[in-house]
Amino acid sequence: MKKNQAKVLVTRTLPVAVEARLKASYDVSLNQDDKALSSSELARAMTEYDALVPTVSDRIDSSLLQTPGRQVRIIANIGVGYNNIAIDTARAQGVTVSNTPDVLTDATADIALLLILATTRRAYASERKLRENRWNDFSLTAGLGCSVQGKTLGIIGMGRIGQATAKRAVFGLGMKVIFYNRSQVSNLDFAAKQLHSIDEVMALADVVSIHAPGGGSSPLISAAHIAKLKPSAYLINTARGDCIDQSALIEALSTGQLAGAGLDVYSQEPHVPEALRALDNVSLLPHIGSATLEVRTAMGMLAIDNLDAFFAGTALPSKVV
Ligand code: DGY
Repeated sequence: MKKNQAKVLVTRTLPVAVEARLKASYDVSLNQDDKALSSSELARAMTEYDALVPTVSDRIDSSLLQTPGRQVRIIANIGVGYNNIAIDTARAQGVTVSNTPDVLTDATADIALLLILATTRRAYASERKLRENRWNDFSLTAGLGCSVQGKTLGIIGMGRIGQATAKRAVFGLGMKVIFYNRSQVSNLDFAAKQLHSIDEVMALADVVSIHAPGGGSSPLISAAHIAKLKPSAYLINTARGDCIDQSALIEALSTGQLAGAGLDVYSQEPHVPEALRALDNVSLLPHIGSATLEVRTAMGMLAIDNLDAFFAGTALPSKVV
């Protein structure tokens, strides 16, 4: 296949097969040491490359998109989420943006399920007890968790990942599902009841799992929403850190306003506040929702499919703007 002359910058190290395809297809600059680029390096890249392949850790803000002498015409983001990119400015500037949906749906729903089980069964506190050599005897009453069978899972955002999580909870864990979604959702192939507001879901659910895109001007789940949760409830977030008022969540967890939380995302990644890390009733993962070799390879390949379509002048498989 003839190599495209377009200059492509990839901001982070990618799986071997993805980098091999990029090298075979484009005049590509790869990031060998996987260190995030600074904003000045990104600004320079905007004037030197035709395409950028960034990810969630790269902030592509309005001023970057308006860099004088910009040459970049397409941003093929690796991630289903694109709250790292100022989409309105990209649209206004005529910069094409694509993302990588679908290929990570199951992997992310798996992590949501893992966090549901880890928090309700107190996996972190129990494992820590064992690792710190404090497990001295079997006990019928110490450190008991909570069974999820027959309990209610509340889904906020019944898109692809919300549905995959709900389905696992219904068929795998025997949970009931209620949900909030901005638009009406029909044709689900499992039992689930759509409610009118986030507040209703918060008040009724035993476990609430967030599956919204993030990137809003204020957190979708506010302090007032968190206050609606039952003291026995758990909050799970595998979507974006800015979906939840993190300070209000930490306060609620510390004061027993809710039983626990399972988080894969944070408001200022990779910073995770000490007050959160110190808590025993949380399970904390470092944004690994899509982190399998298979899925990261599929995400990279889909980003290249988008580049290929863009430079061939055909329809992109997953165009955002
Ligand atoms: C996604 O695809 O949005 C994941 O969170 C990784 O960025």
